[in-house]
Amino acid sequence: MDRIVVTGNGPLKGQIPIAGAKNACLTLMPATLLSEEPLTLTNAPRLSDIATMTQLLQSLGTEVTKMQDGKVLALSSYRIDNHTADYDIVRKMRASILVLGPMLARDGHAVVSLPGGCAIGARPVDLHLKAMEAMGAEMELRDGYVHAKAPGGLKGGVVDFPFVSVGATENALMAATLAKGTTVIKNAAREPEIVDLAQCLRRMGAQIDGEGTSEITIQGVDRLGGATHPVVVDRIELGTYMLAPAISGGEVELLGGRIELIGAFCEKLDAAGISVSETGNGLSVARKNGRVRAVDVKTEPFPGFPTDLQAQMMALLCTAEGVSVLEEQIFENRFMHAPELQRMGAKIEVHGGSATVTGVDRLKGAPVMATDLRASVSLILAGLAAEGETVVNRVYHLDRGYERVEEKLSAVGAKIERVSDR
Ligand code: EPZ
Repeated sequence: MDRIVVTGNGPLKGQIPIAGAKNACLTLMPATLLSEEPLTLTNAPRLSDIATMTQLLQSLGTEVTKMQDGKVLALSSYRIDNHTADYDIVRKMRASILVLGPMLARDGHAVVSLPGGCAIGARPVDLHLKAMEAMGAEMELRDGYVHAKAPGGLKGGVVDFPFVSVGATENALMAATLAKGTTVIKNAAREPEIVDLAQCLRRMGAQIDGEGTSEITIQGVDRLGGATHPVVVDRIELGTYMLAPAISGGEVELLGGRIELIGAFCEKLDAAGISVSETGNGLSVARKNGRVRAVDVKTEPFPGFPTDLQAQMMALLCTAEGVSVLEEQIFENRFMHAPELQRMGAKIEVHGGSATVTGVDRLKGAPVMATDLRASVSLILAGLAAEGETVVNRVYHLDRGYERVEEKLSAVGAKIERVSDR
């Protein structure tokens, strides 16, 4: 099993290219199931989660051709040969549930394994099922699988979410494009990945209004065509790497970064004393002198502070001057990075969904354990500024969401390498 060894090595300098968004690509890929014609995605990230989604789609009958070293994915679902998303694949990646809406909309039936929980929470899919029912589908839970049927096809309806769900909004949006009549999604998620999906579906011929707001209206069409669509830049990878110079000092340019994708996060960086400026090629982040200032953070659906940047922000605040309070309002168990940061000397007290961080002058390198995707990268960020060597184990979590992290950080002066046990 690989591990990453990182040693505090002073200020960083240089450029980091930001890849296409994992969480956009994972919903754009299942959209191929809505059409007989080819869907080509450019600027795709090279990640293990993308490989898992590829495997799932291929098991359903989609042809997937990787080009340009995986940066371009050509997907063709001329027909769906198998309408069952198997537990063996679904349990590896929860986003597999996103084949439910497209399969149901295209062929009127789908069987998808329930994804089960994961490290950060139970993560039920009840809102996904309710959305399909609102469009006339019959849903039955049996032997750990969802059996969905819409014999006469889906019908337009009102999908009124009791709270914001990114995945359920994506499933409903994709399904509604082929439903008969008009569908209105209320309390829709407003994430940039939803906007990206809507833009791709529109290129395929879908009729959608309101993406990016809390209410999306879709006029169903008989069929969708093919399209070529560039995956939007990854705002979570962007925010993660912006924290590298923030934690280590120095100045780094994030190529492809767009400030409108992470407004709330940038406001918190500004309050902490980190300067962010737009350049012709992206965003430049610098921490020239003085310690980082403590700030309070509350995670919220977009456009609020992203839950996927909470662990990384905590790493920064571990060495800030003063006391910070982080409130995780989206997931019930997303502080598993805290005990690992404590092994490095961080002063953190967790009480339910709230963590109080008292800044220390400097963390100390230590062997630590990655527990989930974003927790693993927060440990690497902490290691960048820690005294001595930090060894992050179980980096398979990391490879789900970060392309070649050791190469990208080495290129700006970090002392980091991947060590394989085999
Ligand atoms: C997406 O997960 C992202 N994953 C997550 O990123 C991200 O943290 C999350 O949105 C929130 O922004 C992908 O896009 C592949 P939700 P998703 O439905 O869609 C509860 C990462 O690190 N809920 O918005 O699963 C749920 O338990 C990952 O890249 C229900 O109760 O998130 C959570 O508490 C982690 N019933 C809250 O809603 C449902 O049917 C928000 O979840 C669905 C969700």
